[in-house]
Amino acid sequence: MGSPAGGDTATCRLLDGRVILLRRVDSDDAEAVVALHQRLSDHDRYFRFFTLHPAHLDQLVSELTEPKEGQYSVGAFDGGRLIGVANYTVCADPTAADIAIVVAHEDHAVGVGTALIKHLAQIARARGIRRFVADVLAQNHLMLAVLSDFGRPHERSNCESVLHLDIDLPDRITVSSPAGQEIS
Ligand SMILES: CC(C)(COP(=O)(O)OP(=O)(O)OC[C@H]1O[C@@H](n2cnc3c(N)ncnc32)[C@H](O)[C@@H]1OP(=O)(O)O)[C@@H](O)C(=O)NCCC(=O)NCCS
Repeated sequence: MGSPAGGDTATCRLLDGRVILLRRVDSDDAEAVVALHQRLSDHDRYFRFFTLHPAHLDQLVSELTEPKEGQYSVGAFDGGRLIGVANYTVCADPTAADIAIVVAHEDHAVGVGTALIKHLAQIARARGIRRFVADVLAQNHLMLAVLSDFGRPHERSNCESVLHLDIDLPDRITVSSPAGQEIS
């Protein structure tokens, strides 16, 4: 993952050779964020929201696109097309942040999710956040694989179908998978 000095923007090469841009999403991206969420398959919608009919998409879109203290959303852009979003919201403990992520179905399994989470973690770490917390369905193997790049998460509690995970962020976040190769 290549990151211009001091910036929150990075470029990343995916497993299929495409180069994507990772940058903070803002209000100009609101339509693209709506479209990304509206086009989710039922399967992905359920994995993201734990329901097939999430309420208040407009509220979620404002949260993702209107910069606020304690919140950060990063988008993955392929030639200007938004193909994924990951975000964090700082918890009551200011060293922890709750995360969520979604990647367009046709762009799964080529490294977008890994690149987004690692980029978000670098940004979070630079802002004093030391751990991510996430609620993940136990059958969501792709998400568990993405998070396992940070080491084995601690399970805060397990209500069988939903895992409540605590992920310690290393001081230095490196890209070890083929996805996210540094490019100049
Ligand atoms: C979970 C999600 C974000 C992952 O994004 P992605 O872009 O597909 O993830 P990646 O391509 O980075 O692959 C993730 C990992 O799965 C592995 N993987 C890829 N294809 C796989 C497959 N068919 N089976 C198992 N593992 C696979 C990859 O090797 C990678 O592991 P690594 O980082 O250790 O190399 C995406 O599947 C998604 O949007 N799902 C729906 C929403 C959701 O579940 N959100 C999470 C809850 S908040």
